Amino acid sequence: MTERTLSIVKPDGVRKNLIGEVIKRFEEAGLKVVALKMTHLTKQQAQGFYHVHRERPFFDSLTSFMSSGPVVLMVLEGEEAIKKVREIMGATNPADAEPGTIRKLFADSIEENIVHGSDSAESARFEIGYFFNALEVFER
Ligand code: CDP
Ligand code: MG
Repeated sequence: MTERTLSIVKPDGVRKNLIGEVIKRFEEAGLKVVALKMTHLTKQQAQGFYHVHRERPFFDSLTSFMSSGPVVLMVLEGEEAIKKVREIMGATNPADAEPGTIRKLFADSIEENIVHGSDSAESARFEIGYFFNALEVFER
């Protein structure tokens, strides 16, 4: 099934000059970039994005990190896009990530793990709509 998913190159990924590295891996997997922008999230915007984690002990640190520098937001489209992106990213904790995944290769810690990808169709819908309006997502 063709799906859309939201991915983010997090502030550590931008600082490490990995924007192209991340997008290249998605494109090589056959996914299409259908929306793309750079922004610097406010703490409040990061809190809204990660509201499902608001009770978690890492919430304050995570939202400070996510608002610590610019990020690259993108919508990816393709067959099983949600699962494909999660596989290319690797596990949340780079120590547990499969060899060859973005997080295994490039992440420093469970928090600073380079990249985000939606974890379900429901979260993809919420996350795409959080950052992009209909005119900013393209047919291609
Ligand atoms: O990003 P992913 O879906 O793999 O993980 P999550 O469980 O949805 O957590 C969201 C983000 O919170 C992670 O990507 C990490 O940046 C951060 N996190 C953390 O700092 N400490 C944890 N124990 C778990 C997650
Ligand atoms: Mg998640």
